[in-house]
Amino acid sequence: MGGDARSAAASVAAAVREDRLWQRLMDMAAIGARPDGGVDRPALSPDDAAARSLLASWAREQGFSVSTDPIGNLFVRRAGREGGAAPVLTGSHLDTQPMGGKFDGAYGVMAGFEALQAMNDAGIETRRPVELVAWTNEEGSRFQPGCMGSQVFAGALPLEKALVSVDRAGTTAREALAAVLAGEPEMAVRDAGLPVHAYIEAHIEQGPVLEEAGLHLGVVTGIQGYRWFAVEVLGEAAHAGTTPRARRRDAFMAAHAMVGALRGIMEDAEDVARFTIGRFEGEPGSPNTVPSRVFFTIDLRHPEQGPLTRLGDAVEPLCRQHAGACEVRVTETFTAAPLVFDAGVLDTLRTAAGRQGIPYRELPSGAGHDAAFVAKLAPAGMLFVPCARGVSHHPAESATPADLATGTRVLAEALAELANR
Ligand code: GLV
Ligand code: MN
Ligand code: MN
Repeated sequence: MGGDARSAAASVAAAVREDRLWQRLMDMAAIGARPDGGVDRPALSPDDAAARSLLASWAREQGFSVSTDPIGNLFVRRAGREGGAAPVLTGSHLDTQPMGGKFDGAYGVMAGFEALQAMNDAGIETRRPVELVAWTNEEGSRFQPGCMGSQVFAGALPLEKALVSVDRAGTTAREALAAVLAGEPEMAVRDAGLPVHAYIEAHIEQGPVLEEAGLHLGVVTGIQGYRWFAVEVLGEAAHAGTTPRARRRDAFMAAHAMVGALRGIMEDAEDVARFTIGRFEGEPGSPNTVPSRVFFTIDLRHPEQGPLTRLGDAVEPLCRQHAGACEVRVTETFTAAPLVFDAGVLDTLRTAAGRQGIPYRELPSGAGHDAAFVAKLAPAGMLFVPCARGVSHHPAESATPADLATGTRVLAEALAELANR
């Protein structure tokens, strides 16, 4: 890269404005705000639609073009000199957990937007377009699987399969997406999965490593793999006072035995495997009726493919073994292999951090991110900024304006560099 391009990238970093970034994050956090300070903005909900419209309105003010694709990913494009060149892409997601915070996802989108605006303010041109994307339904808490938008974009999930996903109220992703898109009838619709030159996603760490090390930046080396399962245990409703044990088909007792057996294999001595039952529901939910149906979810994660395969493959046989008189149906709903990010993108991030004099730590991500799927299409990487006490997926999620701006400066410089290659 020549000196001119390098100084242009540095001037973009200098044009990043901490106050503007923070204000936009707070404006976004007002949409779906919870009384406890957190955010509840389910994927493809009216609040998600409002968040997208706010982002689109900011983009139009800056003269950026806005478009969507068949799964509702929202793209904001800053044109480059070579209109046909594959863009450099950055972004994250605007949907949140039901008890979510202000920064998981929104930070990567607002950091990307600030980087694009900083390019405008610095008056630089790039060879390639730079695009910001807000991926549809990263969290996977309303519709499974998560990373729905990035998976469809990368060809890892067929569009049709995504659209038939149903939430707890019986609404399909297709219906929810149609309602969101109806709010922006003028928006251009592009094809899914266009060529990408490189992708960088900024995110809060969601763990304690950077804060404990007293560092303000992380360069993310990769993402651990995960497998999600939905388990449905079917028994039979019966009177709680009169039905002897031998005649019961108690879905809760069967599910309890399954969970105990699963815990037994998942809890390794080194505490590396992550095993979570985040949803556990029983029917009919009456104190004096034997439960006829239990539904529960499993989120299993591991940084290595071998144990992830072995543990995940044990789920269904173990559930069958402990089903007793009940029936059990196990469905794998979401899979992501452990991933190592692109060496070239990581080098670009290291170089940008080095030039800005920001010490950083290299670390893997325990959380899942859209970057894992974009990495199937293009060289990808991520950067982290610390969050207070590593707390995330919680209303108390918090990060400082200064750290958020530090990450955005490194992001902006790296994007500008890549856009001139
Ligand atoms: C994303 O929030 C994840 O589940 O890691
Ligand atoms: Mn996230
Ligand atoms: Mn999340």
